[in-house]
Amino acid sequence: MIFPFSFSLLFTIAAAEEFSYCQSGADWDGLCEKGDAQSPINIITDSITHESTGQGILLTYTMIKAKGSFTDHNYQVTGNFVTGVFNSNNSDITGYGKQFHFHAPSEHTVNGVHYDLEMHSVQYNKTGSPIFVIGVLFQLNDKSNDFLEKVIDSYSIYTNIDLSEAFDGEEDLINFYYYQGSLTTPPCTEGINWFVWDKIQDVNQTQLDFFTSRWAGSSSFACGKGNNRLTQELHNRTVYRYDNSVILMLGVPIVALLMH
Ligand SMILES: *[C@@H]1O[C@H](CO)[C@@H](O)[C@H](O)[C@H]1NC(C)=O
Ligand SMILES: *[C@@H]1O[C@H](CO)[C@@H](O)[C@H](O)[C@H]1NC(C)=O
Ligand SMILES: *[C@@H]1O[C@H](CO)[C@@H](O)[C@H](O)[C@H]1NC(C)=O
Ligand SMILES: *[C@@H]1O[C@H](CO)[C@@H](O)[C@H](O)[C@H]1NC(C)=O
Ligand SMILES: [Zn+2]
Repeated sequence: MIFPFSFSLLFTIAAAEEFSYCQSGADWDGLCEKGDAQSPINIITDSITHESTGQGILLTYTMIKAKGSFTDHNYQVTGNFVTGVFNSNNSDITGYGKQFHFHAPSEHTVNGVHYDLEMHSVQYNKTGSPIFVIGVLFQLNDKSNDFLEKVIDSYSIYTNIDLSEAFDGEEDLINFYYYQGSLTTPPCTEGINWFVWDKIQDVNQTQLDFFTSRWAGSSSFACGKGNNRLTQELHNRTVYRYDNSVILMLGVPIVALLMH
């Protein structure tokens, strides 16, 4: 009987694409389990290699009408937002932003501490492979975030979104952590350039609730956990901190600089 066989084969293929956060990714297999350049990571500010070399990431923004939606595992806004050019060792790598999405709590930690929310702006190359991701960290306080408010307003309704507002209107991101990692969801593809912006952004309680009510705040999602993958071993990787405006000296507490 051929029919039942192909039916179960189809089932296996469909099941392989689904994943759960019940174990925060510890049960994902393949490259997720075996890779040695995985994301997210814990950024330890004391052991970072500082670079101040004129490298940076230049973002060209287009205001577009976009609509957000909850997927099985995140809140995602899709559209052709931004072209990013990452100048790495004098060679330009161009990425096209097609979507950004959110994780709560944050996936990256800084000195072992999670932030309340993390946005990932994923950039793809011309043939559609993800090549770099810009991460923005948000911390709960009493200040409303204008950009997040638009993102929330875009829930199932087309809304004007200008991604530059996520970066305080900065067009040339020159202060960030950089390392080589992976997608943080299966298949955990490696070879991704990661930029985690070092300016922590505000999010107020109402805005945070919009995201967490579907994830960490909901017992029906991921066994009550958030949609964040556990931080991964650094192995032989180096984490850089790029800073073009301040000459950093070893021993200067980076946390103090983060707070300015
Ligand atoms: C740039 O080149 C130097 C020297 O080859 C290397 O050590 C460094 O890791 C490179 N930086 C990046 C971001 O690839
Ligand atoms: C896009 O990236 C993939 C994976 O790194 C690579 O195989 C492909 O050649 C790249 N395409 C272009 C146009 O650079
Ligand atoms: C958060 O900001 C939004 C938009 O400004 C506002 O509607 C909401 O009341 C604020 N929530 C809190 C708890 O301040
Ligand atoms: C880590 O080491 C492996 C094997 O030695 C090498 O292939 C890989 O390029 C290294 N990764 C980084 C980010 O240096
Ligand atoms: Zn993500």
